[in-house]
Parts: sequence; C-alpha cells; structure tokens
Amino acid sequence: MSKSESFSVNLKENRLFPPSEAFVSTANLKRDEYEKQIEIGRKDPEGYWAAAARELKWIKPFSKVLEWNPPFAKWFSDGRLNASENCIDRHLEKNSQKTAILWEGEPENEIVRWTYSDLHDRVIRLTAGLRKLGLKKGDRVAIYLPLVPESVVAMLACARAGLTHTVVFGGFSADSLKDRMIDAEAKAVLTADFGYRKGAKIGLREQVEKAVEYAPTVKHVITLSRADVGTTKSGKSSAAIGKIEGAQEYDWYGLSSSFSKSEAENDGKAEAVEAEHPLFILYTSGTTGKPKGIVHSTAGYLTGAMRTTRDVFDLKPNDLYWCTADIGWITGHTYVTYGPLALGATVFLFEGAPTTPTPGRFWEMIERHKISILYTAPTAIRTFMKLGSEWPGKSDLSSLRLLGTVGEPINPEAWMWYRETVGGSRCPIVDTYWQTETGAIVISPVPGAVATKPGSATFAQPGFDVDVLDKQGKPVPLGEGGYLVIKKPWPSMARTIHGDPDRFKQAYFSEYSGGIYFTGDGGRRDEQGYLWCLGRVDDVLNVSGHRLGTMEIESALVSHPRVAEAAVVGRPDDLKGQAIVAFVSLKADSVKMLGTDEVKLKALKEELRSHVGKEIGALAKPDDIRFTDALPKTRSGKIMRRLLRELATNGVVKGDTTTLEDLGVIAALQAKDDD
Ligand code: PRX
Repeated sequence: MSKSESFSVNLKENRLFPPSEAFVSTANLKRDEYEKQIEIGRKDPEGYWAAAARELKWIKPFSKVLEWNPPFAKWFSDGRLNASENCIDRHLEKNSQKTAILWEGEPENEIVRWTYSDLHDRVIRLTAGLRKLGLKKGDRVAIYLPLVPESVVAMLACARAGLTHTVVFGGFSADSLKDRMIDAEAKAVLTADFGYRKGAKIGLREQVEKAVEYAPTVKHVITLSRADVGTTKSGKSSAAIGKIEGAQEYDWYGLSSSFSKSEAENDGKAEAVEAEHPLFILYTSGTTGKPKGIVHSTAGYLTGAMRTTRDVFDLKPNDLYWCTADIGWITGHTYVTYGPLALGATVFLFEGAPTTPTPGRFWEMIERHKISILYTAPTAIRTFMKLGSEWPGKSDLSSLRLLGTVGEPINPEAWMWYRETVGGSRCPIVDTYWQTETGAIVISPVPGAVATKPGSATFAQPGFDVDVLDKQGKPVPLGEGGYLVIKKPWPSMARTIHGDPDRFKQAYFSEYSGGIYFTGDGGRRDEQGYLWCLGRVDDVLNVSGHRLGTMEIESALVSHPRVAEAAVVGRPDDLKGQAIVAFVSLKADSVKMLGTDEVKLKALKEELRSHVGKEIGALAKPDDIRFTDALPKTRSGKIMRRLLRELATNGVVKGDTTTLEDLGVIAALQAKDDD
C-alpha cells in the first residue's frame, strides 16, 4: 500500500434528504428501532449477531457464538445448517407458489417465472445430478454461466450438496477461468453453450473447452443449452453432447431430468454442513499479479447476507427486487442469490446489456414488471445520465420505492440525477459500501431511519465497528481523511484466502495490529459524522465498478513477446470511475524493428489490448497505452506509480521527484504527452 497517498478531503456536501413520511410509515426499521439496534451492535456485537443468526433455519442449533483468533474467526461453529435449505425449503410451507425468480433474457420475448416450488424442483434435480457424478461435500465446483435463472440454481445446488462453488464471471477469458479452476482444484464446471450480450451470442462452452484442457482436476462439464433456459427437459438428444478433452460432458437438463420426482427428492436432500463449511470461493483482484480466492463460510455469511438485505433494502413480501449485478461478482452472490432468497423475496434477473435493444430497456422492464427496488452501480447511472433523461422519462417508474448503489464512490451529480429522474424524488437512495471480503454491506443508510446525503454511504450498519484511522492507528479528527478499517470481527467476513492463509493475514491484518481489518480504502467522516468512502489507496483499480489489480494487468502485458516492462495506473474517468492507462517499454529488438513507424505502433497497441483481453478478459483492456523508453523508478528500482498517475491524469508531473533515479524519464514522458 502506498500510504503516501493524499486524500481528496475537500468534499463539501450539506444537502440532507430525510426519508418521506410515506416511506417511514411502512419501513421495516424505523429510527427508534434502528438506534436501538445500533446500540446493541455497539455494546454487544456478538449478541447482536447471534440474534441475527437465530433467524436462520438450523439443523443443529449453535451454542458457541465467536471464536476469534486474529485474523481467523469462527462464528456459530458448533451449529449445522444448509444454505440452500434456508433459501428455498423453508419458504415452501407458506409460499411455495410465490414467485422466487422472474427473468428476462436479452431477446425481448423471453420471460421465465419460477415459483419457490419450481426453484426447489430444479435445485434438487441438479443436486441429485451432481451427486450422481460422484461429487461430494467439500469438493469445489466452478460456475461459468450467463445471467440466466439456472445460474442461481447452480449456486444453490452446490450449496445443497455441500460443494463449494466458485463462480467465474462470464466476461473472464479462458485463461482466467483456467487459473481459478486450477487454484480451487475444481472437479467440475457448470456452463452454457452461450449467452446474449448486446445482441451477440457470447460463447462460454468454447472458453471452458480451452480452460479444461489445462485444468487437470476438472473431470465433469455440465453444459446448459441456452435454448433450454427455464424449461425442465433437455431439448437436446444425448448424441448432441460434444467431447471435451480430459473431461466428460453432460447436458444440464438431460442430467437433471434423469430422476423421478421421488428420486430427486431423495438424492437431492440438503447436506447438514458445519457453520464454518466453505460455501464459496470468489476470486478478486489484489495488489499482486494473482487474484485471491476469498473463502466465505456458510452460517456467518448467510447471517450477514440476510440481515443486511432486510435492513438496507427494507424488503417486504410483495416487493419485486432487482439487483442488476452478475452472479460472477460478490454483489450477485449476496444480493441476487443468498440474501433475498433467504428472506423469501421475489428476485428479478436480466441477462443482457442495459441498452439492448434501446437505452430504454431497463426502464421498460421496471414498468412491465412493476419493479419496486433497484440496486445498481454508479457507472451504470452515469451511463444512463449521459444517454439522456428522456429514456427513463418514457416509462412509468412509479412502482419504484427504493434505489441502491454499490461498487464505487458515487458522485453527487449522478446521485441527484438518480434520485430525481429515476426515483421521482420520492425514493430513498442507499449508497452501500462493502467488498468481496466483507461478504455483506458494511456502510449504508438504513432507508427508513437515516437522512441521506449525496455521495456519502452515511453510517456503519449495526454490528459493524468501522473507523477511520491514520497511519499510526489513531482515529482521525472529523473532516480529515484516513484509512477505512473494521475493528471487530463480523460473521460474514472472509475466512481466509484459499490455500494461502499467510496472504490473508498480510493483505488485511498487517497494516494495524490487534485484529483490525484494513479495507484498502480511504475514508473520511464529515462534520456531521457521515462517512465518505473515498476509494482504494492501494494498487487496485475500480473500473466501472470492477476491481482490477494493476499488477495483474502488468503481468498480462509483459507476457507479450514484445514487451519488456509495463506499469499500469488509473486515471479518473467520467463514466467508468477509472480508466486504465498502461505505460509500456518494448524489448530492444522490437524498438529497433518498429522504430517510429506510427502505423505499426498503433497496430501493436491494438494487439496488446487484445492480448490483455485474452489473458484476463475484455474488462481489463487498457484504455490508453503509451510507449516509453523507460519507466520512472526510485534508486532502489521501484516503479514510481504516483508520478505515472499524475502524468496520466494531468499530463504533467508537479509532485515530488527527489527519489527518482533518472529525471530524464519523466521529462521524456511529459514531452511525449505534449505531442
Ligand atoms: O473501493 C471500494 C469499492 O469497491 C471495492 C470493493 O470491490 P469488490 O470487492 O469488487 O466489491 C464490490 C461490490 C461490493 C471497495 O474496496 N466500493 C464498493 N462500494 C463502494 C465503494 N466505494 C465507495 N462507495 C461504495 N458504496
């Protein structure tokens, strides 16, 4: 972490928006109750969380609450339960005919509606199928799917059998998928032939085929035919299933429909797993080249997911709730699948791009289905803002009653636009701050209790001990910037990094002693005590709400035969939050060969961009590549990213260059920028 960073602490925002009386009158958590919960969470966090955990369905109730051996926590460890049973079975008695999932495919006429009973049927059948392949509790299974309702089935079937899932976002390349499957030692992968995105068919199975060849632990590939989405039977004959080198391939619905109802019920029974049993591993970027496999537990994770969904989204039985995240990200785990389904909610899912076939698509779906809660990313809001208010204006959005954002700081202009244009000035906005590692929302307004402020995530949720510290670990005075930390363990915190507990300690618990979790983000409390989450202070970028390590992109660049060295930094971007800028120096023979030939250099830039796309995924392609003879380094050989960031942002370097080894490098880069 470069703690020499300075924070932008000059934010002045005093507009406060208390919730309307109409909203407060029906809110799950009103101000008094909220304050009571905050107080309980402060005085007795373990008691607070134990009460939340008791709202889950336990097969064997727990008696122990917390065992804290920093940085390793165990919560509710002597209890047993099953996450899938919590998300499905316990709603069957009263709500079996309630809609669990309502889905629209990108092609506009495709709609699937599943009741909790339908969801149960699909999940037990797939669970039985996974067991039939010999998969057992503790085995890891990769999920690489488009956002179809079966993606939720995949997660819940794994959870039901005690299999630890690792979902890989469908936009990641075959190489990224391979690395994750190797690291997790996945035995199987669930995929689809393709999904739709911006009108195009995005092939997933073909990536799996490439990845499985180099991932020797993967023995089974279960492929969903996109044409079968939402059905119960395979549209394919078994002869139509292809061959994948090194693994056996099965057709999803062919496998799931091979059981009678009673066989499925029997073979699809929920496994009673220990509270600490790893529910999933989710890979996320850090400050080194290799993504980290964040491990989440079953009971603690589900407790955090359910409690925060109830409080932050004010969920009611008749809400139609839409979190626009893909299941490939933590938001899709906690607030598409586990949190809302644990509460028996109706979840809306959409496969495609927000602007396909027109920029009105989101708003038309809200009107069509009467969606009441919308949870999306600031980058999407900024894109909609740019497309123009006429698009949301064409649809009736009066069904909306609550709006949420996640993934990056939201600028006050975008917040105000969201409030007025989408929310008709009547919907509270919950700006939710959290991370893959925290498992659940940490900082957010509780909408019926807290007056919101554009750009601020407001206050920590009950049960979370959040602070802003200076380098030495002292709380910073109000109004000053510092580092955002969580001082006590919480149930949905990551348990470790898969296969690398030392890295877990190093990454999150080494900045401060005493078991204080360091988020990697800067923060500030303003004069009114409101928290501002200011973004990363380490070498992690946030591009359109997606987390990417600079080192990861650098490693991809230097794996290209023409590249000698690369340094990647972020530059502020109006739409994406941050854009990726890569400074690249080429190998001597390439420099000689390409010289100053503009056409060839331009072609090489394109080649490097696609190379990064192939190595990581399209989301990591640099926006801007600059060739340079050398990179600015300190005398001890460290790349001075601070200077590169300045250069990428302002085109000039005004900061301190005293530790720079060769001043000429910056002069040359600046001169280049002037060209
Ligand atoms: O920098 C913070 C930013 O997103 C990072 C976490 O990224 P990821 O693990 O991919 O999870 C994203 C979805 C939970 C954080 O370290 N971040 C997330 N939410 C906010 C935010 N920054 C400011 N405000 C937020 N509301």
